[in-house]
Parts: sequence; C-alpha cells; structure tokens
Amino acid sequence: MDIIEALKTRRSIRGFKQDPVSRETIHKILEAAIRTPSGMNTQPWEFVVAGGKVLDRIREECGKLFNQGVIPTNDMLRKPFEGVYRQRQVDLAMQIFSLMGIAREDREARKQWMLRGFRFFDAPCQIVICAEKEMQYHLDMLALGAICQSICLAALGYGLGTCIADQGIMYDHVWRQYAAIPESKRLVAGIAVGYPDNSFPANRLVTGREPVGNITTWLGFD
Ligand SMILES: Cc1cc2nc3c(=O)[nH]c(=O)nc-3n(C[C@H](O)[C@H](O)[C@H](O)COP(=O)(O)O)c2cc1C
Repeated sequence: MDIIEALKTRRSIRGFKQDPVSRETIHKILEAAIRTPSGMNTQPWEFVVAGGKVLDRIREECGKLFNQGVIPTNDMLRKPFEGVYRQRQVDLAMQIFSLMGIAREDREARKQWMLRGFRFFDAPCQIVICAEKEMQYHLDMLALGAICQSICLAALGYGLGTCIADQGIMYDHVWRQYAAIPESKRLVAGIAVGYPDNSFPANRLVTGREPVGNITTWLGFD
C-alpha cells in the first residue's frame, strides 16, 4: 500500500472478526515497526503480544475489574482535558455513540461501550508496548508514540485493523502478573489488532482533523 494512502486511510478499529492473527504476521509487523527512529537510537520499546486463551483470560479479568468499579492502577492517568481538547473528546464520543445507536442518557449502554475498551474490543490479539520507567522524557515518549503509529501502519499493510487504547493497559497489574513485567517498566500503550469486522458500525467512523492551514506557521514560502 502506498504510504500516503496508508496514512490517510488508517483509522481506529473497534470491532474485529474472531479469526486469529498468526504469530508470523505479528512478528513481521514488529520487524518492520522497529525501524522506527528514536533519539540516539535508544529504541526504548519492548513488546508483550497476547492472543488465544491467555488474552481471553486477561480480558475477562480486566473487564471484571472495570465492572467492579476498581480504579485503574497504571500511573499514566492525566488531568481532564480542557477547552478545544475537551470539545474534540466530546465530539468523538458523540460520533461513536451515534453510530452505535447509544442514546446520551443510556448509562448502561455507555458503560457497556467502555467495557468493550477494557476488553481490548474483543480483538484476537493485543500488543502492549512497555518501556523502562526512566525512559519517560520528551525524546523517549516521542519514539514510543512513533512506534505505535508504525505498528498500526504495518498492520494495515497486512490487512489488519488496530486501535491504540490506554484503556487496554489501565489495569497494568493484570498484565504485569501474566507477562512478569517488573515495576521498573511502564506499560505505555496497548494496541488491539485483528481483521476488521466491516459490519461493526463504529468502524465506519472517520474522525475529523483541524485543517493544516489552521495549525501551521509557514516561513519563507511566500
Ligand atoms: C495514546 C492513545 C490512546 C487512545 N486510547 C483510546 C482508548 O482508550 N479507547 C478508544 O476507544 N480509543 C482510544 N484511542 C483512539 C483514539 O480515540 C483515535 O485515535 C482518535 O479518535 C482518532 O481517530 P482515528 O484513530 O480513527 O483516526 C487512543 C489513541 C491514542 C493515540
């Protein structure tokens, strides 16, 4: 797939077919993605890849914790968004709920939607990106974000859909237990991976973007 086409057509997929994704395919995706640049070539990333029955057990545990109202343990939680960022967050939720036929006042349906995220959208595969906690500076985080996009684009090249989701790693102690991740490492992001279910309404969502003209200062192009 052409690079520009991949960048323009990638979108978050939140409904997957149950067909498994092979270890070979994920290996090829990661092999391509680790060509991502990093400051001083530090390569701050490590991966946990889960599928099959183990992933099902992990999703059951995370879903149960969410249903019990357990406060997530991961230290990545940020303060609430404000201003235009909050507005974009609200717009996204409204677009998803509209596609899914979830009414604003339907608290139970909204909760079920949240639960879906904590269950990694029932994807057959979940990649967790981890890094040493000391790799937390601007440079390191840039590289970690970049590899997330690389994984999503490489997956697209294999006909796979992805959704980067912090919901997927919020109960980090569950992942720590299954994958023996020490406290010296942070779970940075989760990426749900699988073949897209094209009949799933939310997969139709093409999110908006602020036009380039509004966010770019041009110098020397007059
Ligand atoms: C760091 C990060 C965390 C995200 N966390 C979630 C999440 O917890 N749940 C979810 O449904 N989507 C999550 N997303 C997906 C975003 O909502 C999505 O990327 C955004 O709305 C733009 O839509 P697009 O990916 O379809 O272009 C996350 C994306 C990123 C980059």
